[in-house]
Amino acid sequence: MLKTHSCAELRKKNVGQKVTLAGWVHRRRDHGGMAFIDLRDSSGIAQIVFNPQVSPEVCQVAGSLRNEYVIQIVGEVVSRPEGTENSKLATGEIEVVVQHADILNRSETPPFYINEDMEVEESLCLKSRYLYLRRPRMRDNIVLRHRVIKFIRDFLDTRGFVEVETPILIKSTPEGARDYLVPSRLNPGKFYALPQSPQQLKQLLMVAGLEKYFQIAKCFRDEDLRADRQPEFTQLDLEMGFVEEEDILQLMEKLFTLLIETVRPGMRVLKPFPRFSYREVMERYGTDKPDVRFGLELKDISDIAAQTEFTVFRSVLAAGGRVRGICVPGCAHYSRRQLDELVSLARSCGAQGLTTVALLGEAGVLDKVKSAAAKYLTPVQLEDICIKLEAKPGDLLLIVADKAEIVNNTLDELRREMASRLNLADDNLLALSFVLDFPLLEWSEATNRWESMHHPFTAPREADISLLDIKPAQVYAHHYDVVCNGCELGSGSIRIHKRELQEKIFHLLGYSEEEMGSRFGSFLKALEYGAPPHGGIAIGLDRLVMLLAKEKTIREVIAFPKNQNAVDVMFDAPSYVDENQLDELNLKLKREILSRTGNGEL
Ligand code: AMO
Repeated sequence: MLKTHSCAELRKKNVGQKVTLAGWVHRRRDHGGMAFIDLRDSSGIAQIVFNPQVSPEVCQVAGSLRNEYVIQIVGEVVSRPEGTENSKLATGEIEVVVQHADILNRSETPPFYINEDMEVEESLCLKSRYLYLRRPRMRDNIVLRHRVIKFIRDFLDTRGFVEVETPILIKSTPEGARDYLVPSRLNPGKFYALPQSPQQLKQLLMVAGLEKYFQIAKCFRDEDLRADRQPEFTQLDLEMGFVEEEDILQLMEKLFTLLIETVRPGMRVLKPFPRFSYREVMERYGTDKPDVRFGLELKDISDIAAQTEFTVFRSVLAAGGRVRGICVPGCAHYSRRQLDELVSLARSCGAQGLTTVALLGEAGVLDKVKSAAAKYLTPVQLEDICIKLEAKPGDLLLIVADKAEIVNNTLDELRREMASRLNLADDNLLALSFVLDFPLLEWSEATNRWESMHHPFTAPREADISLLDIKPAQVYAHHYDVVCNGCELGSGSIRIHKRELQEKIFHLLGYSEEEMGSRFGSFLKALEYGAPPHGGIAIGLDRLVMLLAKEKTIREVIAFPKNQNAVDVMFDAPSYVDENQLDELNLKLKREILSRTGNGEL
């Protein structure tokens, strides 16, 4: 090794020792003829001192050092002079007085600061990802990710789970996104689909008799990207034979609780995890992935609104919509500009508008009501609304009248926005909870047919099976989600394990016999050979680590992520390929695309 110690391991007990360190120049300060350098390696930072009284030669080397130069030094560990200790640094009580220094490599000036955690334009931090990853925060995130995966593997291993790798070149799996396709050279005109999840494979492993499977699985989905979505991402994928919903929920509760206690002892969870029905979360929070760290719950005031003279409310209700609102404590003083921002936010969610009601006053005494709706409300109606929304003088009411779905989306957004403005969410709390009792199907206006709320392999509740033919909307599923702080962390279900029922669901979803055979033929066949009752779950690993690391996007916990257009900016992928490669794959590009590739004739 080119070093005897890691930078961050040095402590008072090493004082007097001669050590060799190697790493990067993180930061330098010159003071009284001496150079103080923060030397960084993968473990952290140690301060090294170039003192002309110790060695004029090493000070010459120090003179030529720039940030990110790679150096090796030999020196003696000494205590820092009293008053110069740095309590923020693990090595803050000592420093290393350099006796010999070598430059192992020079560095260009990086395009952004590595020693400061300032925001960097996305394309720049993706293009020079290897430099961005040098930032201590990013290194910590990558190490945290490793710890999480290691914990999960150990936890499941001790409980008899077996990790099985499933193929990446496979066939389409219906998880609701577009597939990434890979052309096959050996089978002209045919394509593999990259797995959106290993769903069918893990079920087949149950048919194979494995009983307890898991995998840290790469999944690929061609869908619109967001802060918590990447085109390729990682799941903890898990499946068990002979289980019921409760078994999976308890296993997850144990896993998450112990994981957080181990890797993030400073963070808390709610014990036991709260459980909500789908209907309850939609009513209380307007979303199936609520952030339950704060209140600001949604309240329905449709019945009161229907009695008012306010045409905005009445026309929405006449058209079958709803009027609901939230009460934001202490925000009655909001300025016109602040209120306009909230109206714009509501509009960006598809709402026609936002009715704001400022209850000006304090100490329980209402002075004045400021609202465009005020003149259409009688004092009794206003009082009823305040009672319903649990509002008091000083509060601001945000009311949305629209189609139920728009009302929910808008109030969910406003609720989270106001919580963030008022700093209501404790960022040391990981409020993990379970959402249960989902309907099996939802009607899609876009495709004019029933679609699975989860995926087509989810089992309906036994008691509801008879409703499948007559009232599909009233069939509930053995489906459960794990949510945390407003993020859908995972999703799973008890599966259908009998062919007849699986076929029935495919039919309900509109698959023809032929489609069913070509897409799911071998899977359906497998269900004929004693498939055991089974169920499982998949946890978004990137999202889990993002929450543990208190990051806002999963890109910050993935070593080499893609940008919003699914592009790997560093390697410039996807990219055009040679014509020969296309020929080999029996592919031809459309004329208009060919003109952009720079090769091929028109
Ligand atoms: P689902 O599609 O809900 O379920 O996915 C499970 C979890 O994976 C994470 N996730 C994502 N993370 C980052 N980027 C994405 N594009 C992305 N898409 C999903 C989420 C999500 O909760 N086969 C089923 C699971 C099962 O039934 O066992 C499935 O994949 O955290």
